[in-house]
Order: sequence, then structure tokens, then C-alpha cells
Amino acid sequence: MERNLALEVVRVTEAAALAAARLMGRGDNVAADQAAVEAMRGAFNAVQFKGRVVIGEGERDEAPMLYIGEEVGASDTPRVDIAVDPLEGTTIVATGGNNALAVIAIAEEGGFLHAPDTYMQKLAVGPKAKGAIDITATPTKNLRSIAKALKVYIEDLCVVILDRPRHQELIRECREVGARIKLIGDGDVAAAIATAKEGTGVDVLMGTGGAPEGVLAAAALKCLGGDFQGVLKFRNKEEAERAKTMGVDDVNKVYRLEDLARSDVMFAATGVTFGDFLRGVRFFSGGAYTYSVVMRSKSRTIRYIDTTHYFEFKPKYD
Ligand code: FBP
Repeated sequence: MERNLALEVVRVTEAAALAAARLMGRGDNVAADQAAVEAMRGAFNAVQFKGRVVIGEGERDEAPMLYIGEEVGASDTPRVDIAVDPLEGTTIVATGGNNALAVIAIAEEGGFLHAPDTYMQKLAVGPKAKGAIDITATPTKNLRSIAKALKVYIEDLCVVILDRPRHQELIRECREVGARIKLIGDGDVAAAIATAKEGTGVDVLMGTGGAPEGVLAAAALKCLGGDFQGVLKFRNKEEAERAKTMGVDDVNKVYRLEDLARSDVMFAATGVTFGDFLRGVRFFSGGAYTYSVVMRSKSRTIRYIDTTHYFEFKPKYD
């Protein structure tokens, strides 16, 4: 994959973040999401690639833009598969909370699992605990093994879990074994990335969230040298049936990082609101600052991009 592509696509996440950030705290998830989707879709018109959306806003009949199968970009080559979440954390933006991101990951054609829009049980850790996780084992066993790999007491570990009733038992078990817990309202992609960043104070992500977000988290962790495992969790029969039509034969399959992000990948994210590893959008008279991360799995390069945008001079996309 052309290495400069990563720097090209950061414009796309910047555009989405700038648009969504305008709607911070307005209590309107839908409007924030729509603004991000429209801005990201428009910005793709200037990117020199042919990107096929494999993780996006849903099926063609339910999403007008960035639907699965849509082709975007200003050129016929290189051909790549793209996974996008123009706004990861719609409620976070609506309430002005932390860790909302605009996200994209790029792989060679066929490089991503075409994850159905269902749930996924996830287990994510940073590089030092790579190889120490097994999603088929109990949380207790995993936490013991992660603590050993990190050379810390289990009581020092910080586990991030989405604050949902479905996680009651998981939370109880983590507490019983003595681990510390950070309950979050939303945004498990940022939480997964935080496990791989020194200084965030986060060691493990556990629990069930969106499956598409699982693929994005796996792509980021591949660039960061972390580890990820996931198992699809269906909310109903229809979801399970649909997954079968998408090629999911074994509903209990454990997806390892390499199953979710098979080829070399690039990952870019721009902070919409302030978070553990990215600052959010800050507006000033006539412009705004954004802060993004761009990573490549092949070279393991991690770049942080601090951008000043002057709106008067911004290109207008179709
Ligand atoms: P949205 O940006 O689509 O609102 O997703 C936010 C999120 O918290 C994800 O980070 C997470 O994977 C998923 O929702 C969890 O789903 P649910 O809110 O149904 O528990």
C-alpha cells in the first residue's frame, strides 16, 4: 500500500471531526453523526485512491452515504478496502463527553473482516500483554495472565468496560479478583487504543460492543503492536441469519487480530472531543485546531498531526 495514503486520509477524519465538533453538547446524536458522515464523504472526493467501503454506515438501502460496497475516491488506483466510523461516539458528542473520534482504517482488498452490524465480545491489550489473552477463558484467568505479562499486581490493572447492564457479571468478577475498573458510557475504539498507549492508565478493554468497532480497534492495535480477540454476539435470530449470508459459518469463532485485519493496514483518527490520547477540536475566530494520529502496521510508524485550519482558505469538496 502506498505509504503516503495515510497522510492523505487524515484530511478525511479531520473533515469529519470538524463537522461533528460543531454539534458538541447539542443533545442531537443523529445530527452530529450526519454532519460527520457528510463531511467525510465529501472529503473522500479529493483522495487519490479507489476505496471500497467494507465497514461503514450500514447497508445501501439504509445509509445514503458510506454504505457497505460504496466506492469512494478521486482515482482508479490504488484499490483498497476501507473501514470507517465518521463519528465513533455519537452520544459522547451530543453530551460533550470524552473520547469521541472520527476514524478510518485502510487495508489491501480483502484485508478486513466484513463484520456484520451486530455485537462483538472484545478483549484488547497493549504490546506488553500481547499473547497473554484468551477470550475463551474467564476474566479472572485473563486478568491474572495480563498482570503477569505487565509485571504488576492485579490490583494495579485498570480494565475499561462499557457501562451497560449486560456487563454486570463481568464487572462483578473483575471487582472480585481485585482489578480496578473504568466504566465508560461509550467509545470502545478509543478505549482499545488507550490500552496500547503508555500513560493513559488503561490496561485492558473487556466486554461487548459493536462488531464494526471491533475491526477498527483491531486495525489500530495492529499498528500499535497490541493484541485483540473478539467473538460475535447476536442480538436476535435475524442478525445471526444475516451474518451467515455474509459468510460467518461458525458463530462461536474467536476472531484474532490477524482475522480482523489480515493485510498491512493504515489507521487514522482525529479527536472530536478531548480524550485519553487525542485532543478534541478547538475553534477560534476563523478557524480551528485538530489533533490526529496516523499509523501504519508495516512500519509501525505513529505520527501525531497537529493541524491549524483557516476556514477562509479551505477547499470546498463536492
Ligand atoms: P456510536 O458512535 O454508534 O453511538 O457507538 C458508540 C459505542 O459506544 C461504541 O463505541 C460501542 O462499540 C457501541 O456504541 C456499544 O453499543 P451499545 O451502545 O449498543 O451498547
